[in-house]
Amino acid sequence: MAGDVVKLAPSILAADFARLGEEVAAAEHAGADRIHVDVMDGHFVPNLSMGVPIVRSLRLVTQLPLETHLMISDPDVFLDEFVEAGADPVLVHWEGNDNLHRTVQRINALGKRAGVVINPATPASVLEEILQDVDQVLIMTVNPGFGHQHFLHTTLPKIRRVRQMIERVKPGCDLEVDGGINAETAPLVVQAGANVLVAGSAIFGHDEGVAAATKRLRAAACASTN
Ligand code: DX5
Ligand code: ZN
Repeated sequence: MAGDVVKLAPSILAADFARLGEEVAAAEHAGADRIHVDVMDGHFVPNLSMGVPIVRSLRLVTQLPLETHLMISDPDVFLDEFVEAGADPVLVHWEGNDNLHRTVQRINALGKRAGVVINPATPASVLEEILQDVDQVLIMTVNPGFGHQHFLHTTLPKIRRVRQMIERVKPGCDLEVDGGINAETAPLVVQAGANVLVAGSAIFGHDEGVAAATKRLRAAACASTN
């Protein structure tokens, strides 16, 4: 995979919420490709984070896509609100959704791109029948719910398997990874076939600043492809 097609999606979960607009502007200026918004309900995952108002406010201050990762128990209930606020793509988990195809159809019917997320213990094979209907797949490389966790190296073979599946079933579908991505792990996931990298703590809250951190992460991700 060519290094220049690796996209970066900074996760604002690690940003300074008191300066959220500035943090997102800094990421955009540094060349981020999308902004990753982690929505948690304290039920699907054991943590609370943010919701629709954050998406609505950020939609006014950035040109970047607001990729919205729904870690909530019943995403269908909130799809309209998130889409109306400016979420796109909308990423929903395979886990706990007995009608995933319906959820994906609903996102598409609202005119937005849909992505499906799988947790570390969920096998790649669950994607077989939904892959043709989505624009991206997100493989969790930590257990969802918190930033600043360590990358799970056991997810690497799964990334390779999903890359093969995408080439076979839906070439052009994005393969994204989320959790513990930094300058050390980025080359590993890119080599395994990921082309979109979510990064929270590696970009925000870093001593060197958002611009330098973004540059370093992109260089690490691209170097692995040269
Ligand atoms: C975890 C979230 C991630 C998180 C990543 O549940 O989905 O997007 O922000 O944070 P880092 O990059 O710090 O592991
Ligand atoms: Zn996320």
